[in-house]
Amino acid sequence: MKKITCSILGFGAIGQGVAEVLLMKKEYLESIGLEVKVVAIVDSKGATVNPEGLNLADCLSRKRIRGTVALENISGIEVIRSVDHELVIETTPTNIKTGGVGLQNMFAAFQTGKSLITSNKGPLTLKYRELMTTAKAAGLEFRFEATVGGSMPIINLANEVLAGNKIISIKGILNGTCNYILTRMLEERASYTDILAESIELGIAETDPTYDVEGIDTACKLVILANAIFGLDTTYKDVEVTGITKITPEALEMANENRHVIKLIGEVSKERIEVAPRLVPINHPLAVGGTLNIASLCTELAGEITVIGKGAGPVETASAILSDLIAIYKHS
Ligand code: HSE
Repeated sequence: MKKITCSILGFGAIGQGVAEVLLMKKEYLESIGLEVKVVAIVDSKGATVNPEGLNLADCLSRKRIRGTVALENISGIEVIRSVDHELVIETTPTNIKTGGVGLQNMFAAFQTGKSLITSNKGPLTLKYRELMTTAKAAGLEFRFEATVGGSMPIINLANEVLAGNKIISIKGILNGTCNYILTRMLEERASYTDILAESIELGIAETDPTYDVEGIDTACKLVILANAIFGLDTTYKDVEVTGITKITPEALEMANENRHVIKLIGEVSKERIEVAPRLVPINHPLAVGGTLNIASLCTELAGEITVIGKGAGPVETASAILSDLIAIYKHS
């Protein structure tokens, strides 16, 4: 049995989703020869550490009851530097202006010889190339399927499953909050500000929902796809961005009368990275509703390949993290 020791940095919705999925999949992982031992969990108030492996069910219930998992006043960086383990699962909140604590955690992990899996978009939007080069130079794994499209495989689909195919472009809906708002605006004949509170209640909006409605979140995901799949070296400033704040219920209704919907579409190719509201025919594959995400990959050999799925949610996002974890195990 191969043992992987890991830490979970960030114990909000996604970090807890990871712990739940590791509990749920313990037997399955053992059946493929893998024992995952979580030796540290960190949240904003501190950490809990046990080199023998933490009891994840206890950690989850402590978090629910006390609002924190922390038993010691140490930070993620200190855990990375002082606790012996091989893999960091980084799920701290995203910061696209500076990269925040997530960026520091990532460099610290690579500097101390640890591979890393993340759901955190911000650092990859700002410093993708530097992070990847640092990880590769140290012979470490750096995987981030969960940063784009939540549960939907896009990065690993393009780079691994479709290996050998040139990806010509990727087009789709990569923000569930905007998709939900546009869907509900048409149903309720309401403005986006009326529906925004409802979408925040779903728990999938960014901490600052202007990142969703102004198209910033979609743009960040396109940057990650541009760098990871198209081999570009882009940052957020290379994206042309228009959000959904100027879309009116009347515009949606008029589109609907002409058998179209308005969707916030992100598109990336070697030539162009753009996010903007677009008219989509009602029966077109991209016309998915609610909080769903969708991505259509235009490939050189396989034609068009489309995936639809839940772009957010704790267990859904953790499912992408789990697939990265298993891929690391298989590579090792
Ligand atoms: N705010 C994002 C969304 C969360 O609505 O899709 C997932 O990245």
